[in-house]
Amino acid sequence: MAKIISGKEVSAQVKERVRLENERLKSKGIETGLAVVIVGNDPASKVYVNNKKKACETVGFKSFEYALPEETTQQELLDLVEVLNKDTKVNGILVQLPLPKHIDETAIINAISPNKDVDAFHPINVGKIMVGDYAFLPCTPAGVMELIKSTGVDICGKNCVVIGRSNIVGKPMAMLLLHSNGTVTICHSKTKNLREICSQADILIASVGKPNFVTTDMVKDNAIVIDVGINRLENGKLCGDVNFNEVEPKASYITPVPGGVGPMTIAMLMQNTLTASKIQNGID
Ligand code: GUN
Repeated sequence: MAKIISGKEVSAQVKERVRLENERLKSKGIETGLAVVIVGNDPASKVYVNNKKKACETVGFKSFEYALPEETTQQELLDLVEVLNKDTKVNGILVQLPLPKHIDETAIINAISPNKDVDAFHPINVGKIMVGDYAFLPCTPAGVMELIKSTGVDICGKNCVVIGRSNIVGKPMAMLLLHSNGTVTICHSKTKNLREICSQADILIASVGKPNFVTTDMVKDNAIVIDVGINRLENGKLCGDVNFNEVEPKASYITPVPGGVGPMTIAMLMQNTLTASKIQNGID
């Protein structure tokens, strides 16, 4: 039977660390602010944005929310980003993805000042992650690293398999595991022998976006299984990429959905916002 890794508990610890450090900044007269921009009416995005606002309150940051209508033009969004780039009360800028189809996401990400890019999506920050010298953490992968760290298992030399190669999760996830000296394989939709590769993983990370994709035959005995997926089933319930009931008895540690990786992403965003504030205010 696996131990359940609680993202709720670990994220609370990260947020408490951030809150205390923010108290120190406040005692120097420094306020930290995060701008969150959402365009359109995606219900899932609205929930995420609301959770980000709540997390700001918990750690003592100011949050500035910009909820723009679906028909907002790319130029209007670029203009807002430019205003936020210049606003000294705003230390971090997050534009919630996905954006409506008529807006080029890359153009928007590239317009955010790299010093305020608390998602670490700007190519400058992505490059820094690649070379291993970075201030801003890629939020979801960094959250996964905290969860693995909470198990006490050392990543060094372990077979790590990441399923999924997105810019937000799969690619930066592989980098962070590599920086911790894991032996890393990235699998994706064109991978041959997926089952065989996954079943050799000491640490298996699923970021596929398909409910119950990882089944027991894909999991090594006593593996650590981290489920990044958040899929909504037809009955309205949330479900991960891992078939939890099947895999749990075989794993040593496993994350639940919800309550696993999800809360970690937001905690790491708080950590990045604090980092942005410190850099912008010249504080160590
Ligand atoms: N949409 C889904 N995940 C994320 C995230 O981490 N950041 C942003 N900006 N949008 C997202």
